[in-house]
Amino acid sequence: MRVCLSRDCLSPQIWGAVTRTTMAQVCRLGLLLALLLPAVGASKPGAVVRLNKEVLSYVSKVGKGPLQQALQVTVPYFLEQRGEGLQPTRVQILDVQVPRLHLYFVDGMGIRLLAAANFTVKVFRVPEPLELILPVVLLADAHVAQGSIGTPVVSISACLLLFDKAIVFDDTHSTPPALLVLVQQHVRAVLRNKVCLSVSNLVQDLNVHLGTLIGLKPVGPESQIRYFMINAPNITKNYISLDINAVLFLLGKPILLPVNATPFTLPEQVGTRGAMVTVGLSQDVFDSALLLLQKAGTLNLDITGQLKSKDNLLNTSVLGQVIPEVARQFPEPMPVVLKVRLGGTPMVTIHTNNATVQLSPFIEVLAAASNSAFHSLFSINVTVNLSLQLSVSKAKLQGTLSVLGGIQLTVASSNVGSIETYKVHALIDAVFEKPLLDHLNALLGIGVALPNVVNLNYVTPEVFVQEGYVVISSGLCYQH
Ligand SMILES: *[C@@H]1O[C@H](CO)[C@@H](O)[C@H](O)[C@H]1NC(C)=O
Ligand SMILES: *[C@@H]1O[C@H](CO)[C@@H](O)[C@H](O)[C@H]1NC(C)=O
Ligand SMILES: *[C@@H]1O[C@H](CO)[C@@H](O)[C@H](O)[C@H]1NC(C)=O
Ligand SMILES: *[C@@H]1O[C@H](CO)[C@@H](O)[C@H](O)[C@H]1NC(C)=O
Ligand SMILES: *[C@@H]1O[C@H](CO)[C@@H](O)[C@H](O)[C@H]1NC(C)=O
Ligand SMILES: *[C@@H]1O[C@H](CO)[C@@H](O)[C@H](O)[C@H]1NC(C)=O
Repeated sequence: MRVCLSRDCLSPQIWGAVTRTTMAQVCRLGLLLALLLPAVGASKPGAVVRLNKEVLSYVSKVGKGPLQQALQVTVPYFLEQRGEGLQPTRVQILDVQVPRLHLYFVDGMGIRLLAAANFTVKVFRVPEPLELILPVVLLADAHVAQGSIGTPVVSISACLLLFDKAIVFDDTHSTPPALLVLVQQHVRAVLRNKVCLSVSNLVQDLNVHLGTLIGLKPVGPESQIRYFMINAPNITKNYISLDINAVLFLLGKPILLPVNATPFTLPEQVGTRGAMVTVGLSQDVFDSALLLLQKAGTLNLDITGQLKSKDNLLNTSVLGQVIPEVARQFPEPMPVVLKVRLGGTPMVTIHTNNATVQLSPFIEVLAAASNSAFHSLFSINVTVNLSLQLSVSKAKLQGTLSVLGGIQLTVASSNVGSIETYKVHALIDAVFEKPLLDHLNALLGIGVALPNVVNLNYVTPEVFVQEGYVVISSGLCYQH
C-alpha cells in the first residue's frame, strides 16, 4: 500500500468539500456532453481505470473525519414525565468518535461500509446533567453504477444501525434506570432516522465530486480531452474497474479515428501490485492524440537558417557544395529554410518496454531571397523512427522522444536538377534532428491529462509499456 506523505493529504475533507459552483459546472458539462455524444459514437479509444482495494484503505483513513462530522446530528428535546406533565430536556451529541472504519468491495454490488462509532451524548437534566456513551455499529452498502452522463454514481442501497448498551459516564448521581432506558430509546430513534440520511448526503457530495471525471481537460491551446464511463463498472472483491472512453477534441470537434477502434480490456495482473489505481490506455488513445497533434498542425515547423553564423549549415553556399545547380542559381549566399510538414499521421507502435513513433514528414527546402520571397529548391520525403519514453507528472502523461537509428529520405521533387540523395542526407540529418526533437518534446511535455477528478493527485506513479497498451500504476492523494 502506498502512503501519502504530504501533510495536507492526511486531513482532507474527502467528501464534504465540494462547492455549489462545482455542482453547477458538472450539470452544465453533463448537458454539453449529452449534446456531443451522438457525434462521438463512431470512435471509442478505450481506457480502463481500476481502483484496487488499497484505495479503500486510503479512503477509510481520510474519510473518518468527514464521517464523524456527518454523524454529529442534532437531537430534539427529550420529553420527560415529571410530576403532572411532560418536561422538555435538551439532549446534545457532544462528540462522535469512529475508531474503526472498514470499506470493502462486494462482488457485483459496490462498496460495503462497516464503522464502529461512539456517540457521546449529554442530557441537560436538572439538577445534574447526565453524560453517556452510546456505542453504535453502522453498516451501509453503497451501490456503484454508471450515471446517464458517463459519470460513476454511488448510492446507498442498504443502511443499518446496531446499538450496544450505553455506558453512563459519571454515575455518582445515580440516574433512575427507567429514565436511562427512555433516553436511550429517544437517542436511538433519532439516530435511526438521521444517520443513514447523513450518510446518503455524504455520498451525494461524493457523486458531485466524481462527476468532475467528465470535465474537459486542456491538452494544448485549442484541444481538450474528456473521459467518460461507457458501461456499468465491473466490481469484484479486489477492485472496481471502469471502462472509459477517452475522446480528444480539437476546436470543439471530436477526433475520430479512421478505423473502427477495437474494444480495450485490461488484463488482471498488470502494473505494480498494491497500487491504489491501475490505469490502462489503449493504442487508440495514443493514435488519437497523435492524430490531434497532426490535425492541429502543431507538428509542423519551419527551420530557418541565418547568414554569418558559424554553426548553421542552412545557407545556399553550403548546399551548393553538394548540389552544383544551387551554386549556379545562387552565386550570392542566401539563407535556407526547411518547411517541415506532417501530412501523414504519425504512427505509434507499442511493444513491451518499447514504444516508438514513426514520422513521415515532407520537407520543402527553400532559399530565402528576402522575408517574403522564397525559391523552392527541392523537396524530400523523410521517415524517422523515434523512441517514446513515457512518464507521469501531476496526473498528466508526458512523452519524450529520441531518434532511433537514422533518418530515411527520398527526393520528392527538384528545381535544381538531379540530386544525389546520399550527399544531402548528412546535411539534412544535421540540421533537422535537433529542432525537430526540441519541437516535439516541447509538445509532448505539455502532457495529456489522465482520468481524474478535481483535487485528486497521482502519487509516485509508474508507467509500464505493454504489448499494445500502456499501464500506469499509482497511489492517489486527495488535496484540498
Ligand atoms: C467506546 O467507548 C468505550 C468507553 O470509553 C470503550 O470501551 C469502547 O472501546 C469504545 N468503542 C469503540 C468502538 O471505540
Ligand atoms: C469482470 O471482470 C472479470 C475478470 O476480468 C471478468 O471475468 C468478467 O467477465 C467481468 N464482468 C463484466 C460484467 O464485465
Ligand atoms: C554558410 O554556412 C557555413 C556553415 O555554417 C558557414 O561557415 C558560412 O559562413 C555560411 N555562409 C554565410 C554567407 O553565412
Ligand atoms: C524497439 O522497437 C524498434 C522497432 O519497432 C526497434 O528498432 C528497436 O530496436 C526496439 N528497441 C528495443 C530496446 O527493443
Ligand atoms: C522504422 O521502423 C520500422 C519498423 O521497425 C522499419 O521498418 C523502418 O525501416 C524504420 N525506419 C527507419 C528510418 O529507421
Ligand atoms: C512522398 O510522400 C508523398 C505523400 O506522403 C507521396 O505521395 C509521394 O509519392 C512520396 N514521394 C516519394 C518520391 O517517395
